Amino acid sequence: MSEYRDRDHIKSYVRRATRMSEHQRRSYERLSGRYCIRRKDTPIEPGSLFAHEERPVVLEIGFGMGHATAEIAAATPGVNYLGIEVYKPGVGKLLSRIEDAGLDNVRIIHDDAILVLEQMIPDESIAGIHLFFPDPWPKKRHHKRRIVRPALTRLMARRLEPNGYLYMVTDWQEYARAAMDVLDGTEGLRNRYGGFAPPQPWRPRTAFERKGLRADRPILELYYVRSG
Ligand SMILES: C[S@@+](CC[C@H](N)C(=O)[O-])C[C@H]1O[C@@H](n2cnc3c(N)ncnc32)[C@H](O)[C@@H]1O
Repeated sequence: MSEYRDRDHIKSYVRRATRMSEHQRRSYERLSGRYCIRRKDTPIEPGSLFAHEERPVVLEIGFGMGHATAEIAAATPGVNYLGIEVYKPGVGKLLSRIEDAGLDNVRIIHDDAILVLEQMIPDESIAGIHLFFPDPWPKKRHHKRRIVRPALTRLMARRLEPNGYLYMVTDWQEYARAAMDVLDGTEGLRNRYGGFAPPQPWRPRTAFERKGLRADRPILELYYVRSG
């Protein structure tokens, strides 16, 4: 049994009904062979998944419909982005964005990011981790499903290269504060700003961020770097 997956692998997501648009379905069928990587249960060198191996690799957990992923990847072609998402329509959508923008620096794993992090990513191999609007699981009895929980942040810290970063953004205040406690207590991570972070100018607004803003929820950002 794994330290990270809890007793019966408590999942951080529920499978949503996967009603895909015709366009997403066609993109998935046509492009997944080219840009999707199958999860493996042994470590691989993350750079080897990309056309340019030597570039740093940033991992995004739960990219949703992939809007921010594609925009960030287009703006920073010198960085490789590995997006992980369980929601098939989102994978279809990001695949079509990759093709439309001609991106060679994005790969996708259509699977559970916890398993990917645990089994496939070696220690000190990732330049950054993006966690944009992770599911907040607001009910107390569901907090154990949160992706920002101690066993997982320890794992994330270990997978980061020295000076690598973990960047989380949420519109759920209670989760933001709880995440700060968890991250402050994670060995090997240092809060870059000593409190909540200023918005990073390169981060585009995501779909869930727009939802939060429409509901008048403040957007809170946390930015940690790997130390020691
Ligand atoms: C609230 S949505 C945010 C999506 C996007 N980042 C945004 O800001 O619009 C959270 C996403 O994380 C995905 N997710 C949750 N747990 C995951 C896991 N263990 N592995 C991969 N994806 C996961 C969900 O499927 C969902 O699409």
